Amino acid sequence: MSESTSPSAAPVAATLYGRRILLGVCGGIAAYKAADLVRRLQDAGAEVQVVMTASAQRFVTAQTFQALSGRPVRSSLWDEAAEAAMGHIELARWPDLIVIAPASANTIARLAHGLADDLLSTLCLASDKPIAIAPAMNRLMWANPATQANLHTLNHRGVHQLGPGSGGQACGEVGEGRMWEPLQIRDAVANLLRPTGPLSNTRVVITAGPTREPIDPVRFITNRSSGKMGYALASSLTRLGAEVTLVSGPTTLPTPHGVQRIDVETAAQMLDATRSAIAGAQILVGTAAVADYRSDAPAEHKIKKQADQMALSLVRNPDILATLREADPKLFIVGFAAETEKLAEHAHGKLQRKKLDMIAANWVGAGRAFDQDDNALHVFWPGGERELPTASKVDLAGALAALIAERFHASRG
Ligand code: C5P
Repeated sequence: MSESTSPSAAPVAATLYGRRILLGVCGGIAAYKAADLVRRLQDAGAEVQVVMTASAQRFVTAQTFQALSGRPVRSSLWDEAAEAAMGHIELARWPDLIVIAPASANTIARLAHGLADDLLSTLCLASDKPIAIAPAMNRLMWANPATQANLHTLNHRGVHQLGPGSGGQACGEVGEGRMWEPLQIRDAVANLLRPTGPLSNTRVVITAGPTREPIDPVRFITNRSSGKMGYALASSLTRLGAEVTLVSGPTTLPTPHGVQRIDVETAAQMLDATRSAIAGAQILVGTAAVADYRSDAPAEHKIKKQADQMALSLVRNPDILATLREADPKLFIVGFAAETEKLAEHAHGKLQRKKLDMIAANWVGAGRAFDQDDNALHVFWPGGERELPTASKVDLAGALAALIAERFHASRG
């Protein structure tokens, strides 16, 4: 049985980006809140197609939803022009999710009985996409055994129920039957659309890209890291169901869909941001090429050229993975080792020194790995190893993500 889906404070924008939502609006005073819901879903990057029942149009006009959604509202099975543009069967295939908000007692009853007597009910019957309903009705209609039996039927068929809440009702009564607030529905919708896989319900933090250590207001120390591996890995882990936060140094890469990104510049900022992000996380992956040293006293003003030679005084940066291992001994930590010689030996050394659970080592130098699209990895963990042969960083990230999921579950026994 599908239970009420509880709202979550998890980042939703990334999950909803580019997703297609068919929003069914039924008759009820809460229909005006559906207008806000369209906005909230669109602000998070979703495409929204509104379908109104006849009674919904007595509460809010189709023009309101059309203006907000930027798409013609559909309401009739018999609208020839709309059917010519996208037939109702095609429309039933279009969304990733059908959300009915508000869902009236009448529509709930019609869905439970498999009726197809208007466009919305026909779409629900003709679609194999997940359906979520946000009921809204008077407390006695809600409590009525007929409504409860219909909901029971729908729950058994896998229809997701979002709410209702209780409180003051439009009719002046107080009780259960208030539609959830638009933000609450948006968050629940994001939860339903989050991909499922071996890392569902797992939070992963990834550091990526280079860091920049200032020398003066216009100069800095950095390296050739493009961030491509970390970004590709963030994407792959998301596809395995993980909720991914990317703590990124400066890169020119777009944020992967489904990923929350925090931008930083220096190693110290990366450490702070990563320390905050790992609260509640189970896995930390350090793909960032963190500068080992920083200027011990960045100049306040641009340094002027003077003598033929000058020396910069540098101090060691903290090691992010080693520091956070001390802070959280249970975190599953994956490191990277970019080496120009003795790959296995150096990788094993880092695995032990930083107390990592896994390390992905690769050859660098002579045009290898850094800023390239291809890479190969040799992955080590205490008591095991696996080679992931040369492939595009995207494909390699997929293989590494699967190995991280495998080792993570093995470590949890
Ligand atoms: O010691 P080395 O820099 O080769 O270690 C590489 C691994 O350690 C990478 O996973 C990198 O992200 C991480 N690292 C770190 N903080 C540093 C230096 C490296 O987290 N200051």
